[in-house]
Amino acid sequence: MENGTLDSNVGRGEMKTWNILVTGSSGLIGSEAVEYFDRQGHKVVGVDNNMRRVFFGPPGDTLWNLERLKSATRQFTPVSLDIRDRDGVLALFRENRFDLVIHCAAQPSHDKAADIAFLDFEVNALGTVNLLEGARQHCRDAAFIFMSTNKVYGDAPNEKPLRETATRYDYSDPADYEGIDETCRIDRTMHSLFGASKVAADIYAQEYGRYFGMPVGIFRGGCLTGPSHSGVELHGFLSYLLKVALSGKTYTVFGYKGKQVRDNIHSFDVVRAFDEFARNPRLGEVYNLGGGRANSVSMLEAIARIEALTGRKINWTYSEQARKGDHICYISNLAKLKSHYPGWSLTHSLDLILQEMVAAEREHRQKVGG
Ligand SMILES: NC(=O)c1ccc[n+]([C@@H]2O[C@H](COP(=O)([O-])OP(=O)(O)OC[C@H]3O[C@@H](n4cnc5c(N)ncnc54)[C@H](O)[C@@H]3O)[C@@H](O)[C@H]2O)c1
Repeated sequence: MENGTLDSNVGRGEMKTWNILVTGSSGLIGSEAVEYFDRQGHKVVGVDNNMRRVFFGPPGDTLWNLERLKSATRQFTPVSLDIRDRDGVLALFRENRFDLVIHCAAQPSHDKAADIAFLDFEVNALGTVNLLEGARQHCRDAAFIFMSTNKVYGDAPNEKPLRETATRYDYSDPADYEGIDETCRIDRTMHSLFGASKVAADIYAQEYGRYFGMPVGIFRGGCLTGPSHSGVELHGFLSYLLKVALSGKTYTVFGYKGKQVRDNIHSFDVVRAFDEFARNPRLGEVYNLGGGRANSVSMLEAIARIEALTGRKINWTYSEQARKGDHICYISNLAKLKSHYPGWSLTHSLDLILQEMVAAEREHRQKVGG
């Protein structure tokens, strides 16, 4: 164990009703967290100002998901608050005694950040400090979960020796088989501005755990996915690929011959990890969280699997220009998470994820007449 467990929180799992704050509650992970904890009978306050629409335009609009949540939940209170609004955030913490904070609000796009440097930093870094400070001032024993990203490693994972197969790049050293672990360095690499603002937030969150002794968990996500994603070209790889597949539009693959590899995890399994942490939190601990090798797929493989599932050819073009700072092969090593939380495991295989997302996208298209 790197950091101690929080003795004062032993037995936290026995608490009857938690008062929970979820930020980014209309987004993919936030909405899954709202539904999951509401189903368990907890009270959830959700903060989201639909800023995904500001970042990505109408296709990024999350209001459909908010409406869905309102009818699917029992004790959910949505609040349209911007996490950059420091006074508003501190007032929210003053007025509520939260037992658990799940922070998922973000500018989430690697590529978009370069066009909106100030906004990206203000949301991802300053917004996170507002929330951490709110927790420190008003509920310092509450478990605090920060959704970070594998982009904090920048392109350092590309230094691993790779081999090329017919459909993907893969690690050539057997020692790397299970993927990238938390010892990968986070500096002296190229991150994108998004990766850099998330590094700032990730380190701040660790510091609130280590310096102030607060129960803060940092989860560095691989590709997080599920039917509640408002997928757009610049964020939400599988969600957007499926939208393109079913609409007949054209998908562009950027660089690495389409053999770049991502590991995909369903939003439900992400939130199950949060639940495990919340019941037995540790101080400032960092975990990689993705689909691992079992749920890894290259672009070429994803296209073939979706074509087989939908029975439709995907129109795609290839651009030689790889995205700056992009990972060639990224698989999350889940060993640390599994050893600290043996009750956690993946429940959604990649096939199951794809089937569920195809069904949801078809239903959505029927509703909107697409
Ligand atoms: N989806 C992925 O593949 C992935 C991978 C790694 C890490 N992550 C991280 O996981 C977290 C959740 O990602 P997601 O896929 O659910 O993103 P998402 O865009 O679906 O959800 C984020 C939500 O936050 C809201 N939001 C943004 N700025 C806000 C602000 N200033 N105030 C209030 N609300 C705001 C948005 O409107 C959106 O609904 C993010 O921190 C993201 O960086 C995501």
